[in-house]
Amino acid sequence: MSKPKLLITRRWPKAVEEAAEQDFDVTLNEKDIPLTIEDMQSALKNYDAISPTVTDVLNSQAFEIQNVRCKILCNYGVGYSHIDLPSAENLGICVTNTPDVLSDCTADIAMTLLLMAARRAGEGERELRANKWIGWRPTHMIGAKVTGKTLGIIGFGRIGQAMASRAHFGFGMKIKIFSRSKVSDDVLSKYNAEQLNSVDNLLKQCDFVSLHCPGGEPNRHLINSSNLSQSKRDLILVNTARGEVVDEVALADALKNKVIRAAGLDVFDGEPKINPVLLLAPNLVMLPHLGSATLETREEMGFRALQNCKAFFKGEVPLDKVA
Ligand code: 8YV
Repeated sequence: MSKPKLLITRRWPKAVEEAAEQDFDVTLNEKDIPLTIEDMQSALKNYDAISPTVTDVLNSQAFEIQNVRCKILCNYGVGYSHIDLPSAENLGICVTNTPDVLSDCTADIAMTLLLMAARRAGEGERELRANKWIGWRPTHMIGAKVTGKTLGIIGFGRIGQAMASRAHFGFGMKIKIFSRSKVSDDVLSKYNAEQLNSVDNLLKQCDFVSLHCPGGEPNRHLINSSNLSQSKRDLILVNTARGEVVDEVALADALKNKVIRAAGLDVFDGEPKINPVLLLAPNLVMLPHLGSATLETREEMGFRALQNCKAFFKGEVPLDKVA
């Protein structure tokens, strides 16, 4: 039996690209250039399987095609708000993701941003490199203490819980959470966490808020000028979820007008383009979507995507089927 034709839309670490060759007739994206919507439509007609990433356009328009050959989109990444699931389902295409394997590293980046924003690490490094540091003094670059403060977590899945674990056990932080569904008492009690009934309340009660919910339309601008204006004045906001969850113009305004203290962003609405208002905003640290960017995790993500794809072609239900 011939191997299924698999398109891997971006470069993967070598070990997983090699592993893919064993079970699939693989096409790699040697130049690592993002696919256009037309490239994606052609791929949907010519491959049995595609492993896309967050940089691929799989909106409803991408699926408006005839003679689809693709049977499975084994997404490389946990977030799949770039894939229009109803359209994929209409065409009978299975969709999988890669949860678990990136929870630790994404929570590590959220904690990195939280600490950088609180302790002004980006600003300090810039000062030093610009040769502007005039030496130690008691009032130099004063930041916010992290240990013992209250952290609000929006979205309490695997990554949200990994963040709670670091913050609670590593930094003695009190944990409050917002999640659309009721989180079990067993899970809450692990971190001595309290579930609040709204995002607004969370912003009012917390010194830090870290976002770990899915992206997509339902969560677009969950953080906006209205709830930012009611937040604690010293709030530090961290986003490692998806750019659209934060109204970036409202965030830039809140930073400029000292409505909140600082922020850390790993994800951006319309990335890799960065809204110029963010580049001008004070007290903001930004990273280029590095949440899962360690070799161990990027390999595990590839192995997990391949595992889902192999299971599908064996006639099994893939472990991480989301549609
Ligand atoms: C991935 C992520 O690296 O998995 C996710 O959802 O946000 C990142 O950590 C990227 O999305 C790959 O598709």
